[in-house]
Amino acid sequence: MSTQEPILSVRDLEISYRTGAGRTVAAVRGVDFDLYPQQSLALVGESGCGKTTLGLGLLRLLPKLGRVTGGEIAYRGRDGATRDVLAMQGRELRQWRWSEVAMVFQGAMNAFNPVLRISEHFADTIRAHRVDGPRPSRKAVHERAAAALEAVRLEPARVLPSYPHELSGGMKQRVLIALALLLEPQILVLDEPTTALDLLTQRSIVNMLHELRERFGFAMIFVSHDLPLASELADRVATMYAGRIIESGTVHDVFTTPRHPYSVGLIKAVPPVRAGAAEPASIPGSPPDLAHLPQGCTFRARCPYAIDECAETDPELLPVESRPDGLVSHEAACIRWEHVSLHEQKEVAGR
Ligand SMILES: Nc1ncnc2c1ncn2[C@@H]1O[C@H](COP(=O)(O)OP(=O)(O)O)[C@@H](O)[C@H]1O
Ligand SMILES: [Mg+2]
Repeated sequence: MSTQEPILSVRDLEISYRTGAGRTVAAVRGVDFDLYPQQSLALVGESGCGKTTLGLGLLRLLPKLGRVTGGEIAYRGRDGATRDVLAMQGRELRQWRWSEVAMVFQGAMNAFNPVLRISEHFADTIRAHRVDGPRPSRKAVHERAAAALEAVRLEPARVLPSYPHELSGGMKQRVLIALALLLEPQILVLDEPTTALDLLTQRSIVNMLHELRERFGFAMIFVSHDLPLASELADRVATMYAGRIIESGTVHDVFTTPRHPYSVGLIKAVPPVRAGAAEPASIPGSPPDLAHLPQGCTFRARCPYAIDECAETDPELLPVESRPDGLVSHEAACIRWEHVSLHEQKEVAGR
């Protein structure tokens, strides 16, 4: 992977929402990451930490009140040319979206247009994003849709004429993945793709995503609050807290030797699979109000490792370990990272 160049480079990204009275709050702050071809990156963290905002921002699909207020997003196409995603406009943006980067939106399973058959959802998607060239024929649309549905192991003859309410949750999620892969993007962003599905269906979606990635070779950004799921689907993990990435590394590094107390808290909060294993421990307190971030480390008030110094500055994301080839593989934004351990029991002293 080290010999390849990233297909997506995000630098110092800031995304803000207008909150009325001319005020804004930054929901994503100082985010840096690189995504390499065929890599799978998981963004994990509690609800409200900015995962969806980041995903939508990458596709320039922010809701009306949201805006990228700083930073850069560079996309490297299959032709090797780099494009400035934040400078794209109108037609160019519409064409780039979906054919280069596509997304399965959070909660989209419940957002199908109920009066359109599945076949019409495919036709709409193709027409909306193929802005150049001749309008595809009905037959061409049908063939593409059928191939995409077969790829997600659905039967086109049964699914295409159906209305959304006639499909199960798992089937709808497969249709959404087929819609996202329709124009063969290089990057697929999936926002909580298995939330609200039962465990067996979750498992089949995860297996299918592995297969699809092997077959089509796309890279994945996988947004989830479900750590076990992220560990199965991702090569790298980035933990987000209060709009920032506070730890990033390989799945192995972050899940076996987390170096940010928040990552430790998330891992300990996972319910055990074995009976009799340690009870999950939820992280005390709640994330800070983005409109009134405390001075210093934003996790400080909830952190069993916090010392006075943590109140001074918000720590930068810095290497905690380097690979022999000199590439940074594991970073954390904690001045006490050397003391942080998954296995040591820490009490919140004097709180
Ligand atoms: N459409 C919106 N308008 C205003 N604020 C929003 C909007 N969407 C999200 N936010 C705020 O941005 C923050 C991050 O939200 P979100 O990106 O949805 O987090 P996550 O996906 O990690 O749960 C939250 O504080 C949320 O209140
Ligand atoms: Mg979300």
